[in-house]
Amino acid sequence: MTNMNILKDNVGRMAADLIEDGQIVGLGTGSTTHYFIKYLGERIKNEELNILGIPTSYQSLIIAREAGINTTTLDEYDIDIAVDGADEVNHNLDLIKGGGAAHTLEKLVDSSAKQFIVIVDQSKMSDELGSFPVPIEIIPDALRIVKKTLIEMGGKPELRMGMKKDGPVITDNGNFILDTKFDIIKNPHQLETELNTIPGVLENGIFSGLADKVIVGKMSHIDVINRED
Ligand code: 5RP
Repeated sequence: MTNMNILKDNVGRMAADLIEDGQIVGLGTGSTTHYFIKYLGERIKNEELNILGIPTSYQSLIIAREAGINTTTLDEYDIDIAVDGADEVNHNLDLIKGGGAAHTLEKLVDSSAKQFIVIVDQSKMSDELGSFPVPIEIIPDALRIVKKTLIEMGGKPELRMGMKKDGPVITDNGNFILDTKFDIIKNPHQLETELNTIPGVLENGIFSGLADKVIVGKMSHIDVINRED
């Protein structure tokens, strides 16, 4: 395992240990939450826990099934606790997510959970958001118009292209992603709100004020940062 994967494994395991019997659990997307889902499945089996997962993507649905976690939907249950990864985290615990193009459902699941825990390796921490381009999910018909608006707002939008698939990435919802680089994002909440008012935008990857706890895997130890109330 690479050093980075060891850090992801460590935070995934720590988050899985926080889950309690009887809880409904939001299952995030990405390589870090992969470890969380795997360890949660092991706990469910070894401790005979009664836990249901609510996936945030086809990826997390498939991993949950492989791990033996029964799944349900937000139509059936409220979520007690959601665990998810992030692409960038600032000192206020604001996030940029959507590196896996799953941020629309992730935001729905993570924001509706009673508790939202983020698991990351140390490379994701930054003083201010803006190094990672903001993923913006748009309906395909809106491509030209939304790009123009984003450029007027000072962004540099790029249509995310598929790998081992010609043409653009198509999200789990059948849409496109515009990865949009902004300079340092001084006010994440304001930009998050403004982006979502553009017609044709479904959701953007800024998650301001949502995370309750961030678990950071470092080479020497694990940091746990709690939101100050
Ligand atoms: C998917 C996400 C992921 O949580 C984010 O990209 C982090 O992924 P990883 O743990 O693989 O670095 O937001 O849309």
